[in-house]
Amino acid sequence: MTVPASLGVSADEVAESTDVYTLQNQDGLVVKVTNYGAIIMSILTRDRDGNLSDVTLGHRTPSEYIEAAEKPYFGAVVGRYGNRIAKGSFTLDGETHTLATNNGENHLHGGLTGFDKVVWTVKSATKQSIELTYVSHDQEEGYPGRLNLSVTYTLNDQNQLVIDYRGTTDKATHVNLTQHTYFNLAGEGNGTILDHEVMLNADYFTPVDAGSIPTGELRRVTETPFDFTSPKAIGRDINAENEQLSLGNGYDHNWVLNKGVIPDELALAAVVYDPATGRVLTVSTTEPGVQFYTGNFLSGNLTGKSGKAYVRRGGFCLETQHFPDSPNQPEFPSTILRPGEVYRSQTVFAFSAK
Ligand code: BGC
Repeated sequence: MTVPASLGVSADEVAESTDVYTLQNQDGLVVKVTNYGAIIMSILTRDRDGNLSDVTLGHRTPSEYIEAAEKPYFGAVVGRYGNRIAKGSFTLDGETHTLATNNGENHLHGGLTGFDKVVWTVKSATKQSIELTYVSHDQEEGYPGRLNLSVTYTLNDQNQLVIDYRGTTDKATHVNLTQHTYFNLAGEGNGTILDHEVMLNADYFTPVDAGSIPTGELRRVTETPFDFTSPKAIGRDINAENEQLSLGNGYDHNWVLNKGVIPDELALAAVVYDPATGRVLTVSTTEPGVQFYTGNFLSGNLTGKSGKAYVRRGGFCLETQHFPDSPNQPEFPSTILRPGEVYRSQTVFAFSAK
């Protein structure tokens, strides 16, 4: 999907109003963040021999994100609603709201100018933490309510990148934020992620229709290519004959996370291991779902920060979030935020090697 250059801010404005902030912890891990789209531009982690490499896909400067020929949401905070809302429409408290449609007939990742394409304000920045804020106005991309948001990235000394989201609104609305970092644990641009082994803490996933909208069914993963309850190479079943894999062009689905007794508690979502480098990424979240997307639409046309082409399946995303199309699916956990309530969500990316 390409976004017309006229939308949002221009590359020049971005260059003027944005900066790159570097977080570094005791172990030497580095996270670079820009206030354009609250984008994580790079994460340097150690392999089993202690070597640091950048494990995220992206560009060198904030303006390059806007100038790039394709915009796959590298590293960005996605919102007001991560993933799809069917036909760009929902009814809330009896009122129907029409959103921008930017993915066929559907609304994807907040619309034409989502939170990934706006300039955030840096509220505070220290050596290991940065807080970014953004005020999304009433009717922005069609959503009701003025939404005050904050996203905080903290790189702690346990080699965890902790992401905290917070939001309040003045009218009832839907909020579903996520982080769209593409990881390649072998280092960005180093081939595909098909050899990475993934465990997803989920017994069910939400099958989709031809427009990638959940049908409403929660389907057991057992004996399907969607079973990642035990670690499995991403590439093992990705080309299997399977209707859902054809519809997603690979894995591009929401898994229903197994939660403990407290639904909003931080719980394990996924573990990814790269046998070549020994790097491990462990993802925990307070969210009920995770969109596991295997970079099926990367085409090799984009060249990344070190000059290497980003090939199809050259990165994977673990977008912790509520389920796609929840505003139209009353059986799914609710994404409604009302005045007086506080939207809170936390996701932790923990890095190690073995
Ligand atoms: C969506 C994909 C989409 C990708 C990049 C993912 O979250 O589920 O369908 O292509 O983001 O936009």
